Amino acid sequence: MILAIETSCDETCAAVVDGSTVYSNVVSSQALLHGRFGGVVPEIASRRHLELVSSVVRAALDDASVRLADLRAIAVTAGPGLVGALLVGVAAAKAYAYAAAKPLVAVDHLHGHVASLSLDEEPFEPPFLCLLVSGGHTLLLDVTGPSRFTVIGRSLDDAAGEAFDKGARLLGLPYPGGPAIEQLAADGDPGCVPFPVAMAGRRGLDFSFAGLKTALATRLRDQAAAPADMAASYQAAVVASLVLRTEQALEATGARRLGVVGGVAANASLRAALNRLGERRGVAVKAALPRYCGDNAAMIGAAAAHLVPVEFPDFLQIDAYARAALGVESSVGW
Ligand code: KG4
Ligand code: ZN
Repeated sequence: MILAIETSCDETCAAVVDGSTVYSNVVSSQALLHGRFGGVVPEIASRRHLELVSSVVRAALDDASVRLADLRAIAVTAGPGLVGALLVGVAAAKAYAYAAAKPLVAVDHLHGHVASLSLDEEPFEPPFLCLLVSGGHTLLLDVTGPSRFTVIGRSLDDAAGEAFDKGARLLGLPYPGGPAIEQLAADGDPGCVPFPVAMAGRRGLDFSFAGLKTALATRLRDQAAAPADMAASYQAAVVASLVLRTEQALEATGARRLGVVGGVAANASLRAALNRLGERRGVAVKAALPRYCGDNAAMIGAAAAHLVPVEFPDFLQIDAYARAALGVESSVGW
């Protein structure tokens, strides 16, 4: 069993995991705290992680009915994310590992999202094409092994989650914007307001969402559509652009299986559109279970299972990093 800790953004998370079995998964969201600022305030996030981390870890151990002594290792997200927020998790994990005389595993947050696909009764194992859509990243990954992938497409500007968050702000909806837009869109007509499909005319597998946000601002100013119709049309435009590039990536790689992960993967209309794409192309599509789409520590524990734990005192060298190391191939290991 592994105790995993995740504090890369605005969720303080801890989980106890053994392979694909999740014994506990505690997520303490700071969304309400950041909501009045319309987005995550890094300094507030770090301070709140500091206040919450030990009680969240305690709750994860209690929910799983395990003691620190029962664990094989401690795992923690080292990056990418907000460095101050990550540092809280990394320091806490080092302290638990030292106190309990356990080794430590540093996990990359993106590898964690990919590993969320293994947290199911029927785990989805590599190789597969993966669409990773979160608040910080929009990536198409050629996943060749556990904790091993190649980036074949990425957003050149905003991430898909950011497109939802910034769009929500324009629509006067609360943070986080994805669930708020999805809820409002449920009563709207997605065909009511035409939006361009971002990057439709461009070659390659990269995404761009900044133009859509500008298009929304213009339409809100110029067109008298009902808010639900505007939200549904905007959501449909984000989904259409994700589906377009994913289809092109399936074509380019010849992949027969597609995984979908990250906070935006919780969106029901994206899931439905990708399922339809899979049916049309004869590709098996698997989205992470909704509870493992948004940030959580269970996925970090799942990714840690494939990495080599580091013993004391070497694990003191593990450091937080802000940016993803998205080279040609990204594989993690210390
Ligand atoms: O993976 P995640 O929890 O954190 C990051 O690693 O960034 O993703 C958070 C993002 C936010 O931008 C949020 O608005 C979006 O995921 N999101 C959604 C939905 N739920 C969360 N976007 C669209 N529809 C949703 N239901
Ligand atoms: Zn994430």
